[in-house]
Amino acid sequence: MKKFLLIVLTLIMVLSLAACAGNQNANDNNAAEDNTNNNAAEQQKQQVQEDEELGDLTKVRLISEDWKESGHQYAIVDVAERGKPCSNCHDGNGFNAQNKEEFKAEHVTGIDCQACHSDVGAELIKNGEVELPFLDEPYEAGRGAVCMACHNGRRNPSELFEDSKANQLEKFTYPHYSMAAALLTGKGGMEIPREEYSTSSGHPGLDNTCASCHMIEAEEGYEQHTFVMEEEAIEQVCSKCHSDIDTFNLNGYQDETKERLEKLKKAVLEATGAAEIDSYHGGFLFKDENGEEIKDIPHEAYVAAYNWKLVKGDGSYGVHNPKYAKDLLEKSYEFLTNGTTQGEDTKNNGDDNQENNE
Ligand code: HEC
Ligand code: HEC
Ligand code: HEC
Ligand code: HEC
Ligand code: HEC
Repeated sequence: MKKFLLIVLTLIMVLSLAACAGNQNANDNNAAEDNTNNNAAEQQKQQVQEDEELGDLTKVRLISEDWKESGHQYAIVDVAERGKPCSNCHDGNGFNAQNKEEFKAEHVTGIDCQACHSDVGAELIKNGEVELPFLDEPYEAGRGAVCMACHNGRRNPSELFEDSKANQLEKFTYPHYSMAAALLTGKGGMEIPREEYSTSSGHPGLDNTCASCHMIEAEEGYEQHTFVMEEEAIEQVCSKCHSDIDTFNLNGYQDETKERLEKLKKAVLEATGAAEIDSYHGGFLFKDENGEEIKDIPHEAYVAAYNWKLVKGDGSYGVHNPKYAKDLLEKSYEFLTNGTTQGEDTKNNGDDNQENNE
């Protein structure tokens, strides 16, 4: 509590000094507006210059406090120590070394300041363009490009779809953890060819994508570095477009997503005879009620499981892209329970013949 007061006091000081400095400039430019502030401002002139530097340090201190509370402080040590490709995202130093040939984990750093503010990270923030595993072209993401470089799921689901259809999967690969970019972009789900997927425009269209919502302006006036969704974002960000919003669960949308996830999972269990969907080395492990592995998994069930895992693991319960999340879950369900979709098995449709023959 004491520490908090101290921070607030320091900030009030810094801010009021900064305000005085602003006045001073305005007064210099416009002599006619000379007024009572002048004396005090002059006396403080010297000090202001010193305190502006202190202001930067205060900012860095507050940001470091935020960061220490964030999940980015932690590294999964054994994963980071494996080196490439794991260290590309599981270590700040490794992230920066991702384009170099070798990376040796001398010490494990977590996703620290250097990850985002030097080399590769700084470049991503500056250019705002990021390569994603499921797109051929770089994606424009503003400052969120640095986030998408790691939070993207690491897979190309259309390749996996084809492998699964041809019965050539080595394992039932699922999207890698915390893959927000796959939903947000409306491009990273496992789509059924020739189905139309709608995608939201509001959320993906924000200038700095991830950073627009996850790095709001802290009360003290700097960009917050806890990275989790703070309640304050509702007023600062969401209410710009949604007039009466007071929860992330707008119109019960997150609850609806949870219900769709539950329904889809149930359908996967029914279709495979599994009692549980477990995981092993980045792939699904479908287990019967005796804990035995079921190996014979229908293509449609794999597709459904992939999208189930994607929307669930994304963690926003569809908010990142409400329309796309809904479509992915519902179309997977149709595909699984009807065994067919428009497009896939319409053998009599002349227009489709060519693609069916590939
Ligand atoms: C170098 C890779 C990397 C970058 C860049 C990155 N993240 Fe992460 N992020 C991770 C990893 C790894 C975790 C899991 C950390 C853990 O808990 O072990 C994570 C966790 C998170 C979490 C959950 C945090 C928590 O406290 O539970 C959020 C939210 C998040 N990141 C958002 C972001 C945002 C927003 C950005 C961009 C400003 C970003 N990330 C950039 C790798 C990265
Ligand atoms: C493109 C970036 C990226 C790469 C490359 C990457 N990961 Fe991750 N990984 C992440 C992110 C982001 C998370 C954060 C999940 C979370 O919030 O806990 C994560 C989480 C994990 C987790 C924790 C899952 C859990 O239970 O929370 C494991 C284990 C893991 N990764 C293993 C690996 C291994 C092994 C490799 C190398 C073969 C690897 N990762 C490569 C981005 C990556
Ligand atoms: C730039 C404007 C904009 C901002 C900022 C914005 N939204 Fe939205 N949101 C939209 C639009 C437009 C839609 C509906 C159409 C669509 O899906 O694109 C929508 C739809 C939604 C939905 C789906 C609701 C439903 O009934 O289908 C939820 C939930 C939601 N937003 C929550 C949020 C939250 C939470 C925030 C803040 C973190 C937020 N939005 C910020 C524009 C915005
Ligand atoms: C429109 C605002 C918005 C944008 C843009 C956005 N998020 Fe989110 N994000 C949310 C909301 C809302 C939640 C759900 C928070 C809740 O329910 O508590 C969330 C949840 C998450 C979570 C899981 C929650 C956690 O703390 O573990 C992660 C990780 C995450 N977002 C990362 C990202 C990344 C990475 C990007 C960019 C690819 C991104 N988000 C873009 C609003 C946004
Ligand atoms: C996951 C990525 C990420 C990490 C980790 C990170 N930052 Fe940032 N930081 C950003 C982004 C994105 C911005 C906004 C873009 C900008 O201003 O360049 C930013 C902005 C800043 C700013 C300017 C803030 C302002 O309001 O003017 C400072 C200072 C800063 N970061 C310091 C740090 C320090 C110190 C650490 C480590 C304790 C750190 N950052 C860790 C992504 C990150």
